[in-house]
Amino acid sequence: MTDVAQAPGLVRKPTLVEVNPYLNGIYTPVAQETTILDCKVVGDIPRDLWGAYCRNGPNPVHTPTNLHHWFDGDGMIHSVYFENGKVEYRNHYIRTDDYKAEVAGQCQAGGVLLPANLERGDLVYKDTANTDLVFHNGALMALWYISGKPVRVDARTLATIGNQDFGGKLPRHVSAHGKVDMVTGEFAFFDYALYEPWMSYGIVDKNNVLTNFQRVELPGPRLPHDMGLTENYVILHDLPIVFTQQGLRQHLWRIEQQDRPARFGIAPRNGRGDQIRWFEAEPCYIYHVSNAWEDGDEVVMHACKMIPNHHKPNPAYGPYAAMAVVLALHAVPCEWRMNMRTGAIRSRQLDDRLGEFPVINNSLTGRKTRFAYHVAIPDADTLKFDGLYKYDLGSGACQTHKYEPGVYGSEPAFAPRIGATAEDDGYLVGFTIDENTGASEVQIFDARDIAAGPVARVTLPCRVPMGFHATWAPGDQMAA
Ligand SMILES: [Fe+2]
Repeated sequence: MTDVAQAPGLVRKPTLVEVNPYLNGIYTPVAQETTILDCKVVGDIPRDLWGAYCRNGPNPVHTPTNLHHWFDGDGMIHSVYFENGKVEYRNHYIRTDDYKAEVAGQCQAGGVLLPANLERGDLVYKDTANTDLVFHNGALMALWYISGKPVRVDARTLATIGNQDFGGKLPRHVSAHGKVDMVTGEFAFFDYALYEPWMSYGIVDKNNVLTNFQRVELPGPRLPHDMGLTENYVILHDLPIVFTQQGLRQHLWRIEQQDRPARFGIAPRNGRGDQIRWFEAEPCYIYHVSNAWEDGDEVVMHACKMIPNHHKPNPAYGPYAAMAVVLALHAVPCEWRMNMRTGAIRSRQLDDRLGEFPVINNSLTGRKTRFAYHVAIPDADTLKFDGLYKYDLGSGACQTHKYEPGVYGSEPAFAPRIGATAEDDGYLVGFTIDENTGASEVQIFDARDIAAGPVARVTLPCRVPMGFHATWAPGDQMAA
């Protein structure tokens, strides 16, 4: 961005909002909550597509007047509900405690670039629940990346049901990227504190009762973002990117890479935290796990490993130049295999295409999957998704769909077809936005052939800005 012309011969400095790339273009927040009950469709919505595609993301309710990180925006869910060829669209704020305080003008919490309220302990950032969504026990749960209060949301209306404490048994918080085992109906989660040397994990059963909760001691405070889940284990991440000593002392978001291995901790889902077994791997940072499963003696984890991007801080982004470099994720898909009998670990890179935000057929979370769907990441200086990849882990093949120039996508979700008989027998659903016009769509792909392009599109009369994570709420389970 450049200086803004105010009047002939006069220029003024651009405002903090104007120089923040994550408050402009495809990231511009929307001001309204909207419900459209009969959306305009191009093509035919498959009749065997039943359920809701729901995507979370940051959407500041008030225009920021100070330093604002993309991760700080109040959580807003955009969703499309499909039934019998009809489509409903909604967007709705998540009514977190801090959202309600913000609306009332009473929010004291700060953000990543400007923490506040240190006397409250370590929760100095506004808990927005803006990061992730899981579908469990018939409803959504909105989750936050710094580990916060999970918030239950109705998957069709997006009405906030309330904070979730699993019958009063939740000891503290829940991080984004807990996993639902759709075979058992259990929700597995982890919790961590920014400034304390531990992680914990918990299991919530299909009836929403906390059945196990275990603490795992660590050599220092850690910044995990995701976890793995298999039939019998959880996989916790101890990765060598952590707060600096200054960050720890002053409770500031200052991060460094330490010279030590990455560690993956495999602990029994229904056992004790002190039974965890740690495996040391090449140093790396991982945002997102695609899936994990057991294969004989080995526990297998597929995830996207970060690789350095070459972007230099862009002075046009002012105080947000460093944030932009960090958020322009460059990552490649990798596999780690950890042998529970011998203690050996081996890893391999699966592809060299830049991709992230991996999703699978959620009914197979924790079980061996053949297919993974990643967003394609262009070489841009902000985070954008310019296409979709479908990986066949059996053959090594990769199908590709690239959006039209200037059109960018969101994390998709896999929606099994009613009566599905195979892992990829269903649809891949996601939003797109045109960076020039703001025109937004829902695109529906046959998951068996994403290279053929969308089988149907829903044109929306409102913008759906770029956001974070999505999930699929199956229609039969919402109805139940
Ligand atoms: Fe994430």
